[in-house]
Amino acid sequence: MSVMDHWPAESIWEAVSPLLPGFTVEVLPEIDSTNTELMRRARAGQTEATLLVAERQTAGRGRLGRPWQSAVGDSLTFSLGLPFAPQDWSGLSLAVGLSLAESLHPDIGLKWPNDLWVDDRKLGGILIEAATAGAHSQLVVGVGINIRPCPAEGLSTPPAALNELWPEASAGAALLRLAMPLVRTLLEFERSGFAPLRTRFEARDVLRGRAVQTSEGLQGQAIGLTASGALRLVNDAGEHAVHSSEVSVRPIPSRA
Ligand code: BTN
Repeated sequence: MSVMDHWPAESIWEAVSPLLPGFTVEVLPEIDSTNTELMRRARAGQTEATLLVAERQTAGRGRLGRPWQSAVGDSLTFSLGLPFAPQDWSGLSLAVGLSLAESLHPDIGLKWPNDLWVDDRKLGGILIEAATAGAHSQLVVGVGINIRPCPAEGLSTPPAALNELWPEASAGAALLRLAMPLVRTLLEFERSGFAPLRTRFEARDVLRGRAVQTSEGLQGQAIGLTASGALRLVNDAGEHAVHSSEVSVRPIPSRA
């Protein structure tokens, strides 16, 4: 079976190209990282809107410089690159996570800033990068989602998989569900920013009401988001807004 036979590339192209003129879909059996490839292309001046899917990544990258490992055949790994010029970039990764969760399943939660969670386990992650191409910015949104259970070696929490919620899920079916809504969300974000999406994010916010700690040592109770998507924490010293996407946050386990 050829690579293209089981990816709904044509259906995705038909759904998305009215929104993004010049849009293309590419499926590769292997690449170092779909984000790295679209960033390379952007720097070389190739800025057409592109959905790049890889069946296998040899050097997948996660947030905060971490590697992203995914089991071949059991995960969805892709990047979407497009020219992008919002007035304010704040909250973009939250908007992407919200779009993915809403497309895929009502029980998918969002862990600020941009992890997809199911029952306190990570289902997927998002890596957002941008390159300056001449006078324009090229956005690269990278997404990795576990479709079937994958090995948990070295991870503090075993990952979740989409087929727990959607038993017949495949990478192609998941991509078909999420691609067009994701493009719509990005275009809406470009026009209106994060504020109109805040209530919907908060409805899936898995940290809300919990004691959390940031990688910078700040502890407090998570009480939702600001209009620009910063995480609101409250502790004895008052309220804090955690802005940086370079910060990671984890719930503090409650004592039994
Ligand atoms: C994270 O949670 O740390 C973000 C993970 C992002 C992984 C995806 S897989 C497709 C794209 N290519 C990459 O190298 N990374 C992103």
